[in-house]
Amino acid sequence: MASNHRVFTFILFLVSLHVNLHFISSSSSSSKADFERWVWWNMKNHRSRKAMESVSGRETRQMDEKLRRAEMNKVSISVSQDGNGDFTNIKDALSSIPPRNKRRVVLIIKPGVYREKILVPKTLPFVTFLGDSEDPPTITGNDTASVVSDDTGKPLKTYRSPTVAVDADYFVAINIKFENTAMHEVGREGEQAVALRASGTKTAFYNCSFMGSQDTLYDHKGLHYFNNCFIQGSVDFIFGYGTSLYENCHLNSVAKKVASLTAQKRTISSLASGFSFKDCLVTGSGTVYLGRAWGDYSRVVFSYTFMDNLVIPRGWSDWGDQKRDQRVYYGEYKCKGPGANMTGRVPWARVLTDEEAIPFLGTYFVDGDTWLIN
Ligand SMILES: *[C@@H]1O[C@H](CO)[C@@H](O)[C@H](O)[C@H]1NC(C)=O
Ligand SMILES: *[C@@H]1O[C@H](CO)[C@@H](O)[C@H](O)[C@H]1NC(C)=O
Ligand SMILES: *[C@@H]1O[C@H](CO)[C@@H](O)[C@H](O)[C@H]1NC(C)=O
Repeated sequence: MASNHRVFTFILFLVSLHVNLHFISSSSSSSKADFERWVWWNMKNHRSRKAMESVSGRETRQMDEKLRRAEMNKVSISVSQDGNGDFTNIKDALSSIPPRNKRRVVLIIKPGVYREKILVPKTLPFVTFLGDSEDPPTITGNDTASVVSDDTGKPLKTYRSPTVAVDADYFVAINIKFENTAMHEVGREGEQAVALRASGTKTAFYNCSFMGSQDTLYDHKGLHYFNNCFIQGSVDFIFGYGTSLYENCHLNSVAKKVASLTAQKRTISSLASGFSFKDCLVTGSGTVYLGRAWGDYSRVVFSYTFMDNLVIPRGWSDWGDQKRDQRVYYGEYKCKGPGANMTGRVPWARVLTDEEAIPFLGTYFVDGDTWLIN
């Protein structure tokens, strides 16, 4: 029994190693050091997951009833560029779903590069984008904040720059590559170029990648869960005031100079907003802060994360506003790697105790027991 479990764990480990290597193979070199890091990272994931199982004292709450019904009445439609599906593009497939939809609609998106600008409106909850894990479809675009909209004659601004914007609740994406290819001088006004904006609540992403430069992933608002995702960008590439758990994700910086991985925008202390990165990996170019305070009460925690030496020793930035030093909540817990050295950290960075870390270490951080389906 015990040995069966170990064999199973090892197979799981090999599978996840395969996925992870698959994700990075296009963007970074696979030296021996990289490989060892991956091994460490994956081994550790299994250990920390076991530790999580023993965290008790939290009552499980009931699954959201609307969601339960939607899942029971699930339907699928397919999108294939070769004409062998129900639709040849994603936009048409979405348009076929009746507004105020009450059932889960799975869009099976066949491999291919989809050059489409997509909005999943508030009136279309329960939509899933499902790609092929061997050959994930890419949804691509290149709008920036300064591009003038055909509809309004005004600049799109950051908010309307995304290739894919999700206003709907209960959105799920699996095995999808979201991309914004506008690669301009980083950090310039008007060059924000979002690959995905998530503005609905109870939204989950599995095995996805988010590729961009400045402002790649607009984690705007709501409860979000990211698992086994690859997120690449330069400046503030995960930003917004979402309440989000990132588990087993790889954050890869393509910054040329100084940048920040996150810009979390919790503006008042009563707001349940924050980014928790657990079992993640931080790599790439440039030198980066783990976060800079977009809001006065910005909240970001990294736990069990491997950080390469691109992390600036100070670790965190108050974005030039010292009153934020006492207000932000920037925590680190059991991280590893050259970038995780606390020696040079700003004095207001927190080394979390076990007790302080617990709220950030499980899917309960995003009320997962009411809406995450496993
Ligand atoms: C993620 O990818 C792996 C490997 O291809 C696959 O086994 C797993 O089922 C995928 N996850 C989901 C939720 O599809
Ligand atoms: C975006 O891509 C389109 C189509 O490939 C191209 O015509 C346009 O010049 C690009 N715009 C920018 C700002 O790069
Ligand atoms: C952390 O950094 C300090 C100062 O650079 C260095 O002296 C120390 O050896 C480092 N610790 C580890 C564990 O690498």
